[in-house]
Amino acid sequence: MCGIVGYAGSRQAAPVLLNGLEKLEYRGYDSAGVCVHNAEGLVAVKAKGRLSVLKDRLEGGSALPGCVGIGHTRWATHGAPSDVNSHPHLSYTGKIAVVHNGIIENEARLREKMLRKGATFVSETDTEVVANLIGYYYEKTGDFVRAVRETVTRLEGSFALGILCADLPGTIIAVKKDSPLIFGFGDGEHFVASDVPAILKYTQTVAYLEDGDMAVFDANHVTFYDSTGEEVEKVREKITWEMSAAERGGYDHFMLKEIFEQPKALRDTISPRLRDGKITLDGVELSAEYLRGLRKIYLVACGSAYYVSVLAKYIIEKNCRIPAEAMMASEFRYCDPVVDEKNLVIFVSQSGETADTLAALREAKTRGAHTLAIVNVVGSAIAKAADQVIYTWAGPEIAVATTKAFSTQLAVVYLLAMQMAKTLGTMSDEQYATIVEGLEQLPYDVDQVLSPKYLERCQYLASRCCGHHDAFYIGRNIDSGICMEGSLKLKEIAYLHSEAYPAGELKHGPISLIEDGMLVVALSTVRELFDKTMANVKEVKARGADVLCITLEDLEEQAGKIADNTIGIPAIHPMLQPSLSIIPLQLFSYYVALARGCDVDKPRNLAKSVTVE
Ligand code: F6R
Repeated sequence: MCGIVGYAGSRQAAPVLLNGLEKLEYRGYDSAGVCVHNAEGLVAVKAKGRLSVLKDRLEGGSALPGCVGIGHTRWATHGAPSDVNSHPHLSYTGKIAVVHNGIIENEARLREKMLRKGATFVSETDTEVVANLIGYYYEKTGDFVRAVRETVTRLEGSFALGILCADLPGTIIAVKKDSPLIFGFGDGEHFVASDVPAILKYTQTVAYLEDGDMAVFDANHVTFYDSTGEEVEKVREKITWEMSAAERGGYDHFMLKEIFEQPKALRDTISPRLRDGKITLDGVELSAEYLRGLRKIYLVACGSAYYVSVLAKYIIEKNCRIPAEAMMASEFRYCDPVVDEKNLVIFVSQSGETADTLAALREAKTRGAHTLAIVNVVGSAIAKAADQVIYTWAGPEIAVATTKAFSTQLAVVYLLAMQMAKTLGTMSDEQYATIVEGLEQLPYDVDQVLSPKYLERCQYLASRCCGHHDAFYIGRNIDSGICMEGSLKLKEIAYLHSEAYPAGELKHGPISLIEDGMLVVALSTVRELFDKTMANVKEVKARGADVLCITLEDLEEQAGKIADNTIGIPAIHPMLQPSLSIIPLQLFSYYVALARGCDVDKPRNLAKSVTVE
């Protein structure tokens, strides 16, 4: 979604801002803009489209002198992508410039109010309302900090704001609620940004702003205030990852790089939690008494993280014998869920900022449930809000389509389910020891499925299938969860219509869509259900489908007698098998997207971190 960067120092601001915005491109956007405070006052330059359009307009930044400024990439919500709707927005008084991430929910009422007070609007955005409110209160009070405070108390919704004032050259105010914002400390320079990569080139020392926090800063000084207006000290934290972690490092795309990073990400996520043949999830306290008293475990998330939750339902129920249900966060919020202290609610999120997941978490807490979050971004809102957190150590994920975050979320689900099964005594010591061994081995197994043999096969099959218009992904049991993820990968990056169905459900309606040449990807890795799934493959073959079957190596020959094409993957412990099954599906989607000429890392209309409902 939108990205913010702000700079105050002695360098030229525009090139710093453009560089920062470039690092935020992965979040998804449709226009960009910067505003610099210079001898002419507040000068804003904005452009619809890719950042390169803005860069050209600014001659790489050199056309806009000045050492203090704010920049923004916008993902349209209020009003279409256009130059005029792009940020920064100036107040009707011309004194205030604002960049904003989030959504102002009472925008319409505030707009009415400001119109009555004589303000004028040029855009359709909720952000211009914020600029006008600050402009109004600044006229009234002559006090920049007070004007911002008066404004934010009147805002409903979510916001991260970067604000300039024409009368205070050198000063930036940053303030946030329910939308991330970090402050960066440099030597004689300061930064603000919505995400670490935007400023990592310049500093690794940051402070995370909490909801209600405000930073008032120039090149040399910063004062932080909390939501009550009290001055506070912020803890300085060191970013431990290098810029190279957020760069492509020789790969054609971030997505491919991140697919290949999966063995390492899995190792980083699993190894520290395995000690002397035992799984230890530090900070996770779930006693046998508590677990036995649970009525149901809910798993709540969005998109791919929801598909991890679907898999988790199978894994937890099978191993822990506790009823589990996966729910989409956007539905959980408004369905009046039967949730209280007898429910454990697990939230899964890469970014830790997804608006629906965060709101669902708050809903669950209000209803008295114990909450546990599986999150990748350290210190994110969901990580902070949950009662307990387990981090996935996937490192920064830049490609919009998730790969390594998905795999590490799944790994945490294995670890958590095993720890709970051990606590409850629902699994024998031998079974437990076998799975622990399997977990130790998992990064090596995933590595095998990334060997040239699989790459070439996926590339070849992608070139064969890229002309299809529709696809079905079918599978049974945990394979059906992986089908959902595989199908999502194909539609989001290759723009190919695709649906995932439990194989046994196909004949209850969707089979009427199967006709000559329709692509069906059948996943059949659950050994005891192989014959059943292959019976469904026969049904679609009989109706003309072009079937690609992914199965276990030793079953490949048998599958090949029915399917048009096959991929055989090594058989590992059945519970861990999804971690291998997903790899060829990721590669297949990647190569189909390439063959169709799609922008793999930045698919249209999508955002990396979905901070609006
Ligand atoms: C798909 C994808 C999305 C995210 C979803 C949740 O490739 O990345 O479906 O999984 O938007 O995001 P997080 O995990 O950040 O809550």
